Amino acid sequence: MKILVIGSTGLLGQALTCEIKKRGIDVIGMARSGADIACDVADKRSLEKNIFCVEPDIIINCAAMVDLNKCEEKPEYAYMVNARPASIISNIAINKSLYFVQISTDHYYTGDGNLKHKEGEAVRLLNEYAMTKYAAEKFALICPNSLVVRTNIVGFRNKDRTPTFVEWVIHNIESNSPMTLFDDYFTSSIHVKQFSSSLLDIIEKNHTGVLNLASSEVTSKKAFITALAKKMGAELTNTTTGSLRDVGGKVVRAESNGLDVEVAENILGYKLPTLDDVITCILDEYEGGVKTEI
Ligand SMILES: NC(=O)c1ccc[n+]([C@@H]2O[C@H](COP(=O)([O-])OP(=O)(O)OC[C@H]3O[C@@H](n4cnc5c(N)ncnc54)[C@H](OP(=O)(O)O)[C@@H]3O)[C@@H](O)[C@H]2O)c1
Repeated sequence: MKILVIGSTGLLGQALTCEIKKRGIDVIGMARSGADIACDVADKRSLEKNIFCVEPDIIINCAAMVDLNKCEEKPEYAYMVNARPASIISNIAINKSLYFVQISTDHYYTGDGNLKHKEGEAVRLLNEYAMTKYAAEKFALICPNSLVVRTNIVGFRNKDRTPTFVEWVIHNIESNSPMTLFDDYFTSSIHVKQFSSSLLDIIEKNHTGVLNLASSEVTSKKAFITALAKKMGAELTNTTTGSLRDVGGKVVRAESNGLDVEVAENILGYKLPTLDDVITCILDEYEGGVKTEI
């Protein structure tokens, strides 16, 4: 069996590639640079040519433009990267009878606090990122043998690029830099290693359709950062509590992004990680000497 991971050099792509290799499965990575195959997913011909060349059994698409500001500034390009490739992959998956996994987002819910949203819950598309990711879901689902996974991931990218949320938080905790802790911004964040392991378990079961795969607990960013600092033995003396609504800028952000993972837990036959499990995983990786470049 051969799996093609598109977006293999990113936060999730690196963890997924590791997990696939650990299971003894052939994996080929694709990104614009630094991967086995150099390909821009916005280039339809190149994407098609490279997929035909690899002849994968499974395609996991985790390539995306994840910067909300950039998506807002360049919506057409965001569509070319986040949405259109899913339609191209879907067509190939149908023709070649492949299994297609599209990594989606949780960025679809607003105004209901820490509610756990089920897969069938009505969504709200507040910004270009959400619009393009939701369009990708619809494109992916054209293929009957496709799985769309909604999530919120945390971890270390280990790259000389914009730091991830966790890289930024740990840096701020260690340097006692000022931080505003949002108590009205909720997610079910899962560590990329935990996500990758459970995703491969789901793939083994050939599940199709839309599925939430995340932590079993919904937490505010304030609760997440406070729990992380506590486990690091650090005191937060330079923080203030704030609201996501007070953040200016062009992008309207969804803030009630909790996911209900009951369906995934039933398929998997085990519980998905709690907040404490996620934080333990983050600190295990950090203390294990992960390289962070802030
Ligand atoms: N990070 C989060 O908080 C979060 C939350 C929920 C859902 N997600 C979803 O999870 C998935 C993975 O996100 P991530 O955080 O791992 O993103 P990331 O770290 O920014 O990685 C993105 C990957 O996509 C590749 N890529 C970007 N533009 C490309 C293009 N035009 N052509 C080919 N490859 C391209 C990047 O490599 P190159 O730049 O070298 O091409 C990189 O390998 C995405 O679908 C995202 O929407 C992320």
